Order: sequence, then structure tokens, then C-alpha cells
Amino acid sequence: MPLPDFAAFLTIDEEACSAVATALENQVARQDSSFARDVAAGLTHPLLKEISSSWLYDELGSVLFEAITLLPEYGLTRADERVIQRAAPVLAATVGANPFVAELGSGSGKKTRAILSEFLLSGAAGYAPIDVSLSALEGCCAPLAALEGLALHPTVGSYLDGLALALRRREPGQRALLLFLGSTIGNFAREELPGFLTGVRKLLDVGDYFLVGADLEKSPSVLELAYDDPVGVTAAFNKNLLAHLNTAFAGDFDLGLFAHRAVYNLAERRIEMYLESTARQRVTLRDLDLRIALEAGERIRTEFSHKFNLPELRQLATLSGFAPGQEWCDTEWPFAECLWRAE
Ligand code: TRP
Repeated sequence: MPLPDFAAFLTIDEEACSAVATALENQVARQDSSFARDVAAGLTHPLLKEISSSWLYDELGSVLFEAITLLPEYGLTRADERVIQRAAPVLAATVGANPFVAELGSGSGKKTRAILSEFLLSGAAGYAPIDVSLSALEGCCAPLAALEGLALHPTVGSYLDGLALALRRREPGQRALLLFLGSTIGNFAREELPGFLTGVRKLLDVGDYFLVGADLEKSPSVLELAYDDPVGVTAAFNKNLLAHLNTAFAGDFDLGLFAHRAVYNLAERRIEMYLESTARQRVTLRDLDLRIALEAGERIRTEFSHKFNLPELRQLATLSGFAPGQEWCDTEWPFAECLWRAE
């Protein structure tokens, strides 16, 4: 995989740049092997085939997701942006000067800019975006390079491994503010959340902060439209996962033989996303030595998007070693940003 020219916008010397490039290469190699393991395990699951949603975000997938955020039916990102505008000054006052801001799944980094700019008003800050997508990291860092006083530490990796790596770059005594925006928390199985959040807590120090965005419960019909828009951008985003697998593993998925499905599961309070095989078919992923059979109507699960309420979010904070603090909510599209402090 070609490496982006991070040297162009990192404020470090040349020797350090080549060290960063090597570190990135190693990170990418680790990432590639976890991708292969993940896909092989998910597609051979005896009960329900699934592919982890992290692999939706290849170069095209990241662009398609940005397009989703512009859909009138998908109010989530705009709500998050509004909430963050209000929260940023309070965050800066609470966390204090020169923080080490790390972000899980940074995406384009547009929302983060509002937060970073607020911190930079009173001096410097470090920023470590963590993402599985190199192109997303590049897209996130390039526009931020112009911000004076900001030290960038882009990190390729999964959430916990990437966070552990990123936190090694913090200066002694520098307080961390970890961002988990856009309701990515909703993409975990509910029963996995306490374990994941406890894992995050263990990597932080007492007094560090964690800002968690969560989409709140709302009408199923509103949600189904948000995840199955009439233009078909979300369908394209979901199907592109198969194109990504074709490229990565010499696969022969025929995208025309799959349909996008988004269903709200009332009991579980979540949107479930599937790719449904429209015919009985066989698919080969040559580089994984994998042949799979699909029945007509059989579904591959690609994403869960859980919806929350405020009391359960506070309970999750406490369960995983945080003290729940200030909350900011949007009224137009129920959405919350919650600030937790590591205890
Ligand atoms: N994680 C986001 C969410 O749950 C991303 C998303 C939006 C998404 N639309 C999607 C993921 C469709 C998979 C398929 O809202």
C-alpha cells in the first residue's frame, strides 16, 4: 500500500519523518493481516455471515460516507456538528490548556476542527487521529496542518491498539481528551460496550477526559430512511464493501447480485444493515483461499447502529470507570455529546 506523504505536514525533522514512515508501514502491515483474519472468520460463520463495518471505509467508502453526512435524511452528523459548536468553549475551559486530543475513528475531522480551534485560542495542542483508513487520516490531517500550534500524530490502527500507540506521543503531564464522536459507540454490540469502554479507561490516566457522541432513540421510520436513503448513497456505501473485498483479496463478488437492507430492530433498539444475496451463488476470494456459498435471500450483516437514552449512557460511564459529567443534546435530531472524566 503506498504511504501518504505525512512528512509534508508533520512538524518534525527529516530523520523523525522517516521513522514515522516506517512506523506507519508496520502499522499498515498489522492492519492488513487483521483485515484478512476478520473477513475469513466473518464469511465462514455457520449461523450468520458478517463483515465488520470498519472495512467499509476504503478510499471510496470514506468519500461515500462523507456524502451520507450531506443527505437530508441523515440528520445525525449535522446534529453532532451543532452540539459540538455549543460544547467546544466549555470543553476547552474544563480540560485546560495544551491537551493531547486523541480521536477514535477520526473520519474527515471536520467536527474536530471546531474543538481544536477552541483549544488553540489559548495556546498549543497535540492531535492524534486514529483510523483504519490511511486515506481518511490523510484527508483529516491535511487541512489541519495550517493550524498554528497543533502537533499532529496520525495513527493507523484499530481503536484500542491505535489508542495505545497514539498515547505514547503525549508529553509528560499532558492531559488527554479522547474524542469518540458521531455515535460510533452505537456500532458495538451492546454487551461488548462495557468491556470496550473499560479497555479505553485503562489506557487513560485519572483526570483525563472522554467525549462520547451517541445517537438517541427516535422514530423507526425516521431511522430507516436515514439508513436507506432514496438517492441510494447508503446502498452504494454498503455495497462498496464487497468491491473493497474484491480489490483486497482478488475476489469475485458480483455487486449486482446484492441488495442493501436497513431494518430497525425495536427490541434491540438498533438499525441493522445487511447485504442480501438476491440469488443462490458462490463467491471466491482467491488471496484468502476462500470459497463461500450464499442462498437466495441470505444476508451478510455489515453494521449495527444502536440508539441510546441518557440514563443508560450515564450508567455505562460509571460501569467502565468514568464519572459522567456535562451533556449537550440536539433537539431537532435527538443526539447527545457526553463528557466523562476518568476516575
Ligand atoms: N456508524 C454510522 C452510523 O451508525 C455510519 C453509517 C451511516 C453507516 N450509514 C451507514 C454504516 C450505512 C453502515 C451502513 O450512523
